[in-house]
Amino acid sequence: MSTIKLTGMDQHIDLTLEDDVFSQPNLDIGPIKQAGWFCYDPGLTLTTACQSGITWLDGAKGRLLYRGYPIEQLAEHYCFTQVIYLLLFGELPSEAEHNAFTDQLSTFNPLPENTLKLVDSLPKHSHPMAILSSLAANLSVNYHHGENDYKNPDVQQEAVLRMIAQIPSMVALSNRHTQGLGLDAFNSQYGKYTEQFTYNVLAKSATDTPTKELVEALDKIFILHADHELNASTFTVRTAGSTGTNPYACLSAGLAALWGPAHGGANEACLNMLKAIGSTKNIATYIQRAKDKEDPFKLMGFGHRVYKNYDPRAKIMRQICHQTLDIMNQKDHPLFDLALELERVALEDPYFVDKKLYPNIDFYSGITLSAMGIPSELFTPIFALARTTGWLSHWLEMYQTKPFKITRPRQWYVGPSQRDVPKD
Ligand code: CMC
Repeated sequence: MSTIKLTGMDQHIDLTLEDDVFSQPNLDIGPIKQAGWFCYDPGLTLTTACQSGITWLDGAKGRLLYRGYPIEQLAEHYCFTQVIYLLLFGELPSEAEHNAFTDQLSTFNPLPENTLKLVDSLPKHSHPMAILSSLAANLSVNYHHGENDYKNPDVQQEAVLRMIAQIPSMVALSNRHTQGLGLDAFNSQYGKYTEQFTYNVLAKSATDTPTKELVEALDKIFILHADHELNASTFTVRTAGSTGTNPYACLSAGLAALWGPAHGGANEACLNMLKAIGSTKNIATYIQRAKDKEDPFKLMGFGHRVYKNYDPRAKIMRQICHQTLDIMNQKDHPLFDLALELERVALEDPYFVDKKLYPNIDFYSGITLSAMGIPSELFTPIFALARTTGWLSHWLEMYQTKPFKITRPRQWYVGPSQRDVPKD
């Protein structure tokens, strides 16, 4: 721990600099408040808004840990429901704990009775994220009652497990509705968590069974997306939660924030970009556009606020992508050829090299999901399915950190100073 002295407007303020677990210094700016000063940090690029013990990432070295465990080890040796348990409760489950946990999760299925009617009432051309948002709001309709005391750990846990149990069916239903797949092959008691999702989302008839390889690939994709520190949607969930609103409403808030193309919407945007580029002969034009400051076009699936090295999730996702292309016999698909060539060109281009813009997880996840036959509009809902665990782990952690404060930043006012309204 060390202190630094800040001098300005005839005042001296001592600020404490304290290292976190991995020796990252954090400046406690609390004493600045007494001087009446504010800190300007647009995009909150250097503000630590809370303490958290869930996920740690090192952007410079490209490392990511869930509860201290490297993402590579978890993706290789564990399944998604074990990782859900880890993120929620802090430790990996024993076999007995894992079995009890998955049994408990399945008690929160099926979806509320009015769900199918609600889905049916929505236009077929709706974006699946819009349907998912409506279904999340419908959870408040069904389960948020005035007497719920969300400070009570039992009530918290019930709400959290319900959302984690139900979100795969909600995502699957939004796909079935928009793709006109009907409900013959929709069964909320089918198999285990990821197997059930794979069946519910893709099966065309009740006898279709998901292949083991596809289930395993999706399970790993869920692990990679499960949490990512204080990103925009997780911060949104914490911000909504800090007002004391119900956790179902927090889920809706997280979904809204995730949808944007700079965040979870990048996987869909990336595939749309690849379709727009169309052919390897157009790559140079698009790379040029991405470098042009006057052109709003960005290479979707490249760059990251924190990673200035290879995104460790992207490394694993790249492998899953190649395996899936093999399994699905899609290695020669022109779109995937194009993606691989774009990756090669960008990684050799000085603009991307100098700015440390590497392909991120969304570059490969879009291609992978597309090879599985999943429509691009469903990529962000699938990201949301996995991230629900991260959001709710943070929501729980916020309640465990007592007392938590309502999130209420200040602004740097740039409007007119006080003036009188014109009379006549
Ligand atoms: N294509 C072209 N130039 C880029 C890109 C890109 N994808 N990303 C960043 N840059 C440039 C940017 O214009 C800036 O240039 P300059 O220094 O000349 O002003 C420089 O690189 C630094 O970027 P930044 O704007 O400071 O980065 P940021 O932290 O504000 O934004 C980002 C990060 C992810 C929003 C941005 O890289 C981006 O929009 N990427 C494309 C969308 C995308 O793939 N998002 C998914 C992120 S990973 C999934 C998730 O966790 O949500």
